[in-house]
Amino acid sequence: MTTQLIDGFGRVHRDLRISVTDRCNFRCTYCMPEEGMQWQRREDLLSFEEIERLARIMVERFGVNAIRLTGGEPTVRARLPVLVAKLAALGVDLAMTTNGVTLPLLADELRSAGLNRINISLDSLRADRFGELTRRNDLARVLEGVEAARQAGFDPVKVNVVVMKGVNDDEIVDFAHFGRDRSVVVRFIEFMPLDADEGWSSDQVMTQAEILASLSAEFELVPVARTSAPASRWRYADGRGEIGIVASVSQSFCDSCDRVRVTADGQFRNCLFATGETDVRALLRSAAGDDEIAVALQRSVSSKWAGHSINQVHFIRPRRSMSEIGG
Ligand code: GTP
Ligand code: 5AD
Ligand code: SF4
Repeated sequence: MTTQLIDGFGRVHRDLRISVTDRCNFRCTYCMPEEGMQWQRREDLLSFEEIERLARIMVERFGVNAIRLTGGEPTVRARLPVLVAKLAALGVDLAMTTNGVTLPLLADELRSAGLNRINISLDSLRADRFGELTRRNDLARVLEGVEAARQAGFDPVKVNVVVMKGVNDDEIVDFAHFGRDRSVVVRFIEFMPLDADEGWSSDQVMTQAEILASLSAEFELVPVARTSAPASRWRYADGRGEIGIVASVSQSFCDSCDRVRVTADGQFRNCLFATGETDVRALLRSAAGDDEIAVALQRSVSSKWAGHSINQVHFIRPRRSMSEIGG
C-alpha cells in the first residue's frame, strides 16, 4: 500500500538523491582539499543490492518517482550501469549529476541501461581557470562529455555552473552563449556553505538578481513557470533555449522541497543541510524487515525542519561537505 513520505509542514517527498561514492576523479577547490581526504571504506558503502532494496521500499511504499545518482563523482563507482539498470526497472525518472569527464566512455552505456537525464557540473570554460578550480586539466574532456551526452540522446543535458564572486562571475555571458550554441540548459547556482574548507562567506555569493542583471545586459529573458525543482527558469525571447538559476541562498525554495537523500555509506538525510542522519545501513544489514525500515524513513521525514537558515545567525553548517552529501 502506498502512503506518503510527508513532513510536519505538509510537504510530500517523492525525490530521492543517492550518493554512490564519496570519491571523485577531480579535486574541486570548493569541494575537497588537494590531499588527505579520508575516503569511505569499500565495506562501508551500500552495495547495489542494498541501494536497490532501499529504493524499492521508497518507490513501492511512498510513491517516490524520481531518483538521482550523485557522488562524489558517481561514475567512479565500478559497474555503475549495473546499478542504473536495477533502478531503471523501478520505473522512476532516473537522473545523474556528474563532472562529465567519463561521459565520452560511458554515456551510451548509461543511456542503454535506462538512465533518463544527465546534469554536468562545469564551472569554467577557460582551460587555465578550469585546471585551477578542479586541479585537473581536463576541460576538453568534459566538453567532449557534454557532447557525448547529447549524442547518446539525453535531452535536455543540463550544465551546472556554481557562480563565485571574483572566481568565475565574469563568465556568465560566455556560459549563456555556450548553452545556446550547444543546445544545453545552463543553470547558474548560488554558492552554498557546503565547501570542504569552510571558507564560504556570503560576499562570495553571486545572487540570482546579480546573475540575471549580467544576462539581461545581453539577452531578453522571459520567466517560465517553476516546478518543485530548485531551479527558477527563464527562456530566451528569441526561442534559442532556456537557463535556470538555483537561488538556494538569496531565495530559498525550502517550502516546496520534496527531496530526501542517502549518502554512500547509507545515512538517510531529510535535508541537504541536515545536522542529523538516520543509519539506514545498519537497518539494511540487520534482520529488520521492510516495514521497520519504512517506519524509520517516515520518522526521519516527519522531523524535518521548515528549511535551512543560511542567512541567520543560528545556521549550523553540516558536518559533511558536498562531496559526501552529493549536492
Ligand atoms: P533537476 O531534476 O534536473 O532539476 O536537478 P537538480 O537541479 O535538482 O539537481 P542537481 O544535482 O543538478 O543540482 C543542482 C544544484 O541544486 C546543486 O548545487 C545542488 O546542490 C542544488 N540542490 C539540489 N537539490 C537541492 C535541495 O534540495 N536544496 C538545496 N538547497 N539545493 C539543492
Ligand atoms: N554550492 C552550490 N553548489 C555546489 N555544488 C558543489 N558544491 C556546491 C556549493 N558549495 C554543485 C556541484 C554540482 C552539484 C551537485 O552541486 O557543482 O553541480
Ligand atoms: Fe529542502 Fe533542505 Fe534544500 Fe531547503 S535546504 S530545499 S529543506 S533540502
